[in-house]
Amino acid sequence: MTEPAVSFAKNNRVRFVEELKSLLRIPSISTDPEHAADTRRAADFVAAELRRIGMENVRLIETTTSAHPSGHPLVYADYLRAKPADGKSATTVLLYGHYDVQPPDPLDEWKSPPFEPTERDGNLYARGAVDDKGQMWMHVKALESLLATGGGKLPVNIRVIIEGEEEVGGEGIAAFVREHPEQLAADVALVSDTEMFAPDLPTLCVGLRGMIYTEIEARGARTDLHSGMYGGAAPNPFMALAQIIAQLKDAEGKILIPGFYDKVAKPSADELKAWKAIPFDEEVYREHEVGSTELTGEPGYSVLERTWARPTLEVHGMPGGFIGAGAKTVIPAKAVAKISMRLVPDQTPAKTFALYKSFVESLCPKGITLEVRLIHSGDPIVVSTDNPYVRAATSAMHDVFAKETVFVRGGGSIPIVGDFIRELHIPTLMMGFGLPDDNLHAPNEKFHLANFHRGIESIIRFLSNVGA
Ligand code: BES
Ligand code: MN
Ligand code: MN
Repeated sequence: MTEPAVSFAKNNRVRFVEELKSLLRIPSISTDPEHAADTRRAADFVAAELRRIGMENVRLIETTTSAHPSGHPLVYADYLRAKPADGKSATTVLLYGHYDVQPPDPLDEWKSPPFEPTERDGNLYARGAVDDKGQMWMHVKALESLLATGGGKLPVNIRVIIEGEEEVGGEGIAAFVREHPEQLAADVALVSDTEMFAPDLPTLCVGLRGMIYTEIEARGARTDLHSGMYGGAAPNPFMALAQIIAQLKDAEGKILIPGFYDKVAKPSADELKAWKAIPFDEEVYREHEVGSTELTGEPGYSVLERTWARPTLEVHGMPGGFIGAGAKTVIPAKAVAKISMRLVPDQTPAKTFALYKSFVESLCPKGITLEVRLIHSGDPIVVSTDNPYVRAATSAMHDVFAKETVFVRGGGSIPIVGDFIRELHIPTLMMGFGLPDDNLHAPNEKFHLANFHRGIESIIRFLSNVGA
C-alpha cells in the first residue's frame, strides 16, 4: 500500500499545490478580529477536504466561551477502523497542524502579495505557505494518497486536530485537550510545524522554547498634553517604558529579572556534543539568515545554545503617541510596550510572569502608573527520542532523503505540544519541512515545493511504518 500511495502523490503534485494555493488565498489572520470570518472560512475549507478524501466524523469544534470570547474553531476528523494483520489493536496517530497565520505586514516588503500565492524558482510564496498551511496540507495529502490507493482504508488509526489559534497562543485547543482528552486519545502525535536544519537534511525537532507574551501599559497625565506648555513638568509614559526596558536586559543579553534563571536546565552532555557536530557556520548564519553586522547574545554560549536552550526577552512594538508622517509635539497620556520572553525547561510561564511583573513594578518611575498584562503563554518542552515512533520517522525520511536524521531543538514555540505531553501522556514527533530561509512571520514567507512533496512522501512512509 505504501508504494501506490507514493506514486499517487507523485502523479497529483500539480493538483496538490493548486489546492494549497486556494487555502493560502484565505487571509486567516487569527489575531485580527476583522479577519474572524476569513479564519472560519479556512476551517471550513480544510474540513470540506477531509470529508472529500474519505475521513470520518469530520466536524468543527467551537472554542468560544465566556472566558475566551473570540475563539476560532478546531477542525477534527478521524479514521479508527485500521486492522493490523497480527490481530493486535491498531496504533492511533494524532495529526496536528494550524490553519491560522500571522499578520502579513509590512506589506510593501512583499515581492508578490501575501494572499496571492505565487511560484518563483521552485518556491511557493504566501503568508502561511510553510507556517503552517503548507505543512498541514502535507498531512491531508498523505492521508488522501493512502485512502485513494487503499480502497478507502488506512494502515493506522488516525485522529486529525487542526487549530486556528496557534499564532495567538492556542487557548481554545488547550481547553479542549484538558476537558476532552478521550476525544484525542492516541499513541503518538505528529506535528509538522518546524524546520529542517539545512536543505536535504532530514530533521526531527526534539525541543521547543516556551513563552510569555506581555504588555506593559504606562499612564502619566490625564490626557495628551502640548509638549512645550507642559514639557519639563509632566511625566512621559514613553520615557518611563524606555527606562524600564533598559533595565530588563544588560548589554550582553543577560536578563536582569531577579530569579529569572533559577530554573534554567542545562542541555545534557550528549545533546551539547551532538549540536557541536551539526554543520553550522556562524558567519553564513549572520550574513544570510540574520543579515546584521554582528550577532548579539550571551557570551560563552554558541548561537545554537542561545536560540535553543537559553531564555530570551524581546520587545516587539510600542504602540501609542504620535507615529504619523511629520511631527506632532505631544506628551502622550499613555504608551504600551509589547514584550515577550522565550522560556526553556524547567522555567514555568506562571512563575516567570510573576517574577517579571514584580520587577517591572519595582522599576516604575514617579508620576507613572503601570499595568503589566499577560497576553498568552506556553510551556517549554523537550521530548524523548527513545521510542519506536522516532525510528519509524527516521526510517521514513531515510527512504526519502537517503540521509540520517539530525535531532535539533527549535527556538520557537508551539504551545499545544506541552499539553499533548501533560494531558494526553503521549510522545510528540516534530517532523517539519521548512527551511531556515523560509521567512516565517516575515515578508516573503515561502515553502520550498520540493520539501512539500518530500514531506508528503515522508508522512505516507511514516504512517505505513507505524501501521506495519
Ligand atoms: N511554527 C511556529 C513555531 C516554530 C517555528 C517552532 C520554527 C520551531 C521552529 C509557530 O507557528 C509559531 O510561530 N509559534 C509562535 C507561538 C506563539 C505565538 C505562542 C511563536 O513561536 O512565536
Ligand atoms: Mn506554526
Ligand atoms: Mn508561526
